[in-house]
Amino acid sequence: MKLRWLIVLALVVSARVLAEESTPLPEDPMAGARLFQQKGCVRCHAVGEEESKLGPNLGRIHRRGSLLDVAGAMWNHAPMMHERMAELHIKPPQLTSQEMANLIAFLTAYQYYLTQVGKPGDPDKGREVFAAKNCAKCHSLQSEADFEKIGPSLRGYAKLSPIQIAQAMWNHGPAMAEEFHRLGLGQPKFTNDEMAGLLAYLQRAAAPAGAEPVYVQPGSPNRGRILFEQKGCALCHAIRGVGGLPDVPDLGKRREELVRSVTEVAGFMWNHGVAMWDKMRERQVPAVKFEKNEMADIISYLYFINYFDKPGDPARGITLFARKGCAQCHAVTPGTKSLGPNLSTAAGVGSPIEIIAAMWNHAQAMEPAMRAKGVPWPKFEPGEMTDVIEFIYMVRERPVTTGTGKK
Ligand code: HEC
Ligand code: HEC
Ligand code: HEC
Ligand code: HEC
Repeated sequence: MKLRWLIVLALVVSARVLAEESTPLPEDPMAGARLFQQKGCVRCHAVGEEESKLGPNLGRIHRRGSLLDVAGAMWNHAPMMHERMAELHIKPPQLTSQEMANLIAFLTAYQYYLTQVGKPGDPDKGREVFAAKNCAKCHSLQSEADFEKIGPSLRGYAKLSPIQIAQAMWNHGPAMAEEFHRLGLGQPKFTNDEMAGLLAYLQRAAAPAGAEPVYVQPGSPNRGRILFEQKGCALCHAIRGVGGLPDVPDLGKRREELVRSVTEVAGFMWNHGVAMWDKMRERQVPAVKFEKNEMADIISYLYFINYFDKPGDPARGITLFARKGCAQCHAVTPGTKSLGPNLSTAAGVGSPIEIIAAMWNHAQAMEPAMRAKGVPWPKFEPGEMTDVIEFIYMVRERPVTTGTGKK
């Protein structure tokens, strides 16, 4: 009976829970890279090209799923990690929830995002693109003005990162589109790595020989979320069914197109630019412009929001909570005592990311308790951790009191 009650409750609140709080956005994936050093993970794990160390190379493990699944992998391997740490006399690192968020963002992002961000475009390919897409018809790359070309010289980009060059293109897009139209040239479109090559070419053409190129800044998904509102993207685009206009694509359901390198996504936005600018005119809003690192921020937001393609399912979480043995030690109704803390009222487990951080931090103490009770270390398949956490989160959202309502 209690279980049924919980399932009903799950269905009622899931729609709300599945909204944005359940998808913690990292503040800054680069902060995660620093923590990876500071917390000593780097002593046992490689992430890049280097050979593996004591633990597996975390950059080579291909992950699909959510951020919480990465934390789930950490949890699954915690007993073995603790053993290795004990051998090396390392204390298991404690993580605040923000640290956990940044760390797993870094690990999640590594393959899909940071490697791509770091992978520079091919400038030789870019030179071909520059000619083939008619850029050379209107732009020179000389420093002195070329009066035969109607566009400005594109010589000034040595100090900008590729994504900032793409941003300059975007900002001048509406004016350029008029010129394309006037001269009967089609709006150039980019596929795959064409944009990356083009940007690398513009950057190289501008830089003095031997200068170190400016790399793409990964952008902050959290700032991107705010900008998505501020810049008016949210006026037209829904994120997973929330907000937006019915005839405009929902940008929360575009994993195929948006979980890609930042320059590819910039190309994708550019390809849809003319239609967007028309729509902005139609709705009498000014064409969206970006400054500083704003385009990178928005793109990283779109990346992460699409990365979590499957939000947790609290109804499945209830079953898992029992099956994995959590229910043996944790009560989830207020006022009930259990061996481990009552998760409906325990302090410091108020959000999904806090729950996972708490699990990691308490893993060492839970281990002997489980051994004593004969509960094997619970392991999670992809998706399962998200479901369990969604369930715990839900229990906290609306404390379940068996005495009210139903009975
Ligand atoms: C003392 C060495 C050591 C340290 C320090 C360490 N780990 Fe591990 N880690 C391991 C070992 C060994 C494994 C594989 C365990 C197993 O096979 O069960 C592992 C496994 C993992 C996995 C699962 C990989 C997979 O196959 O999915 C993740 C994720 C992980 N570690 C993250 C971290 C993070 C993040 C830190 C820093 C907070 C860290 N580790 C610190 C040794 C370590
Ligand atoms: C039909 C002529 C034309 C073509 C073709 C053209 N542009 Fe432009 N471009 C312009 C004009 C005109 C401007 C200035 C627009 C303005 O005043 O806002 C401009 C502006 C720019 C800017 C911003 C310059 C600044 O001041 O920061 C960039 C970057 C740029 N173009 C890149 C390109 C690239 C890359 C291509 C090829 C894909 C291209 N353009 C093709 C006419 C063109
Ligand atoms: C005035 C309405 C409007 C605004 C504001 C707007 N867009 Fe769009 N956007 C559109 C329309 C309409 C399309 C579809 C264009 C097409 O069919 O080529 C589109 C397409 C896109 C696409 C391609 C989606 C796909 O799956 O085809 C991306 C990415 C995108 N917009 C990002 C943004 C971002 C980021 C912002 C804010 C900086 C923004 N848009 C602001 C109307 C808008
Ligand atoms: C054998 C008993 C046992 C099992 C099984 C168990 N736990 Fe625990 N759990 C504990 C104990 C004991 C603590 C407190 C550890 C401490 O004080 O550091 C704890 C702490 C926690 C905390 C931190 C609570 C806080 O107050 O910060 C969370 C979250 C948690 N467990 C979740 C889970 C989940 C999810 C499962 C199932 C996958 C699970 N536990 C399985 C005994 C258990």
